[in-house]
Amino acid sequence: MPNGEAPIYLDHNATTPLAPEVLAAMLPILRRHHGNPSSSHVYGRQAAAAVATARESVAGLVGCRPDEVVFTGGGSEANNLAIRGVAAARPDRSHIVTTAIEHPATAEPCALLERQGHSVSRIAVRPDGTIDLAAAAAMLDDDTALVSVIHAHNETGIVQPVGGLAALARQRGAVVHVDAAQSLGKIPVSLDELAADLISIAGHKLYGPKGVGALIVRRGTPLEPLLVGGGQERGLRPGTENVAGIVGLAAACALAGRDLADEGRRLRGLRDDLLARLAAGIPGLGLNGGDLVERLPNTLSVRFPGVHGSDLLAATPGIAASTGSACHAGHDTPPAVLTAMGIAADDALGTVRLSLGRDTTAAAVAVAAEQLAAAWSNRRSRPTAAVQIR
Ligand SMILES: Cc1ncc(COP(=O)(O)O)c(C=O)c1O
Repeated sequence: MPNGEAPIYLDHNATTPLAPEVLAAMLPILRRHHGNPSSSHVYGRQAAAAVATARESVAGLVGCRPDEVVFTGGGSEANNLAIRGVAAARPDRSHIVTTAIEHPATAEPCALLERQGHSVSRIAVRPDGTIDLAAAAAMLDDDTALVSVIHAHNETGIVQPVGGLAALARQRGAVVHVDAAQSLGKIPVSLDELAADLISIAGHKLYGPKGVGALIVRRGTPLEPLLVGGGQERGLRPGTENVAGIVGLAAACALAGRDLADEGRRLRGLRDDLLARLAAGIPGLGLNGGDLVERLPNTLSVRFPGVHGSDLLAATPGIAASTGSACHAGHDTPPAVLTAMGIAADDALGTVRLSLGRDTTAAAVAVAAEQLAAAWSNRRSRPTAAVQIR
C-alpha cells in the first residue's frame, strides 16, 4: 500500500489468519514434543495424549463422541473420504444425490464417481439460493447410497435446509454427508441437529492452521478408507498424525465454541452496517439470495450494477476481497452458484464477496464501504468495454 497500511482483509471465507491462541497451543508441539503418537516411549505417549485431547475438543464443538473424529489433511480430503469412501463401502447402491452449488471439493469427487459409473443427481436451487426439497425428494430412491450437501455456501453464505434433506435421505436409507467447512465456527454445527452421518470440517476456515481438518464419522456409518497404510485414525486415514496441526485445529474449535454467540452477533451487526452503507452509496446494489434466507453472519455477497466485481476490486487496493471462490479466482466467469440461482451472467459478474472476521472493526467497515462506493462511482463515470463473458 502506498501509505504503508495493510489492506483491509475481507476474505475470511477464503481463509482466516491463525488465532494467537491457536499459535500458542501449537508452538510447544513444534518446539519440544516431536514424538510420533504411535511410539510407545514417553515422547510418543505425550504426542498421543495431545491428539487424544484434541479429539475431545473437536468432538465437543460438533456434539459427537471423540472416537467419531477422523483427522484429515483438510476439508477437501474430508469430502473425498466421505463421498468416495461411502461409494466404495456400499457397492449395492450406485446413486449419489448432491446439489448444483457444491464447492469443487464435493462437486469433483461426485463427478469422478459419475465417470466411474455411478449416477449422480444434482438438486437445483431456487432464486433465493436454497435447495429445492421437493426436487430432492423426487430424486431420492432405494438405490441412493449417499446424499452430500454443503451446509453454508462459501460464496453467498446462504445456509441450506440440511435437516429437511437429511430426513428425506434417511427415509431411503441413504448416508448423509454435510460439508460444514464454512459453517463451523460461524454458526452452530451439530451432528445430531443436522441429522448427519458425516461432517467435513477445515482448520483454516476457523482461525486454525491450513492443511488439517476432520471428517466426523457417526458410529456405524459404512466407510472405506481412500488410503491404506499404518492404520492410524482407525484405519480410515493412515499416516503419522500432523500433531501440531491437530492441536491447532482443536484450539481453534475451543475458541469458536467459546465465542460463537457473541462473535456471531458482532459480525452480523457489522455485516448489516456494511450492506446499509453500500446500499446508500450505490443505487441498484443487489443482494444475492432472498430476503428471508438464513445467512452466515460474516458473509455479504452483493452485485455492483454495471461493473465487473474484479475491476472494482482492482480499483480498490485497500480492500482484500474476492469475486468468486478463492479456488478459481482470476477467471472472469460468474460463480456457478449465482448462475444456478438464475442470476444473469452480466449481473453476476458484478458480484463481490465481502467476508468479515475476528479482526474486522466498525472503522474498517466504514472505510471499506467508502472505498468501494468511490471506486464504483469512478468506474461508472468512465465508458467501459462491453462485458466479455467467458
Ligand atoms: C465449502 C468448502 N468445502 C471445502 C473446502 C476445502 O477445504 P480445504 O481448503 O481445507 O481443502 C472449502 C475451502 O474453500 C470450502 O469453502
